[in-house]
Amino acid sequence: VTELAEPTRRRGDLPEEVASLVERRVPGMTLEAPFHLSEEVFALDVEAIFARHWIFVATEAEVPEAGDYVTIDVGPHSIIVVRDDDEQVRALRNVCRHRGSRVLHEPRGSVGNIVCGYHQWTYATDGTLLSAGQQRAGFDKSCYALKQVAVRSVEGLVFVCLAADPPEDFDDVAARVRPYLAPHQLRRTKVAAQEDLVEDGNWKLVMENNRECYHCDAGHPELTCTFFPTYGYEVDEIPTRLLPAHARYVEAEADLERACEERGIPHEPIEELTGRPTAFRVQREALDGAGESYTRDGSAASRRLLGDLDTPRLGRLSLHVQSNSWFHFCADHAVAFSVLPLGVDRTLVRTTWLVHEDAVEGVDYDVATLTDVWRHTNEQDGAFVARAHAGVRDPAYEPGPYAPSEGQVDDFVTWYVERMKEHLAP
Ligand code: FES
Ligand SMILES: [Fe+2]
Repeated sequence: VTELAEPTRRRGDLPEEVASLVERRVPGMTLEAPFHLSEEVFALDVEAIFARHWIFVATEAEVPEAGDYVTIDVGPHSIIVVRDDDEQVRALRNVCRHRGSRVLHEPRGSVGNIVCGYHQWTYATDGTLLSAGQQRAGFDKSCYALKQVAVRSVEGLVFVCLAADPPEDFDDVAARVRPYLAPHQLRRTKVAAQEDLVEDGNWKLVMENNRECYHCDAGHPELTCTFFPTYGYEVDEIPTRLLPAHARYVEAEADLERACEERGIPHEPIEELTGRPTAFRVQREALDGAGESYTRDGSAASRRLLGDLDTPRLGRLSLHVQSNSWFHFCADHAVAFSVLPLGVDRTLVRTTWLVHEDAVEGVDYDVATLTDVWRHTNEQDGAFVARAHAGVRDPAYEPGPYAPSEGQVDDFVTWYVERMKEHLAP
């Protein structure tokens, strides 16, 4: 234990040093090592970022019926996301009001009422305490409901905020993103597959890795069948070898714009990745190949399109929300990614594939084809993150410069530093 703990403690690791670490972050450069290695910084990340900001935790499709729930762990916090008897999605603290036991300990399930396994205190799906055996006369059940967690569903994407005073800008983001999501009708989807991948790296390295495609050309042979490898490049910075891909991109973009405008579907980018608590980016972009979906040839993986869409060729609507999520919405399916820190050097990446609720497995889609590209891409990304974390842990590591195509990585880190500064401000 001592040997393992040693390298993480070699510098900048005292709580009082965190503020100066944050202060001296150089824009355009990667973070200093303690941001990824220090247990103190990690605890502060959970407190300042994950417990104070809106985080994406589930899709409504995961809790289709009243009583369906998932439990989500974030550092010491555990949250029950449950559909209550009125069909509303709620989030509750998974802490019994009797002696504090975890109430639900399975990752997902379905209940009539929420019963604590210790002494059977019984709560309704809205958190109200219904019964607590053997109490004194005068025991007031209304004082011991499960604590509520702020929750918002944006067209079926469930975000929660653990803070008592959640960032107020979320509703603005939701209102601006909704028109982009609406055509996909995510509330009429079902979960076709879900994959939990534990990556051996700090959660910020997982997010950084997601926010660029500099590594895609060499690192993601399946993804780059449809994901233009020119992503993130300014036009005059595109390397010569990628010019043919760029030409295809320009043509596919023109086709996509036409298709969107004919149908009144928004596609313009909105990019506000820094400077606000709920920072985000949304844009519809063309896909390479058949231009329909994330498959090897770009053709749709589900024959039953989402919502009432009348063409499979709508590229990908991509949504990034700081701090912990990204999403891609194609005409035939959607894929949602939630990043949840398990420890300073371990991060859960949960990937959820959604198809139309009436799509029939084996008829309209098969899971292997649907999940093929992102399963491989996730695995490859997990390996990149593990290598990045191992390198950052090496005493030789020092911050390096982001390339122009890594602008969104720089934005993520800038946002993180802004949020930490605000949290640490006296
Ligand atoms: S701790 Fe939950 S019923 Fe006792
Ligand atoms: Fe990647």
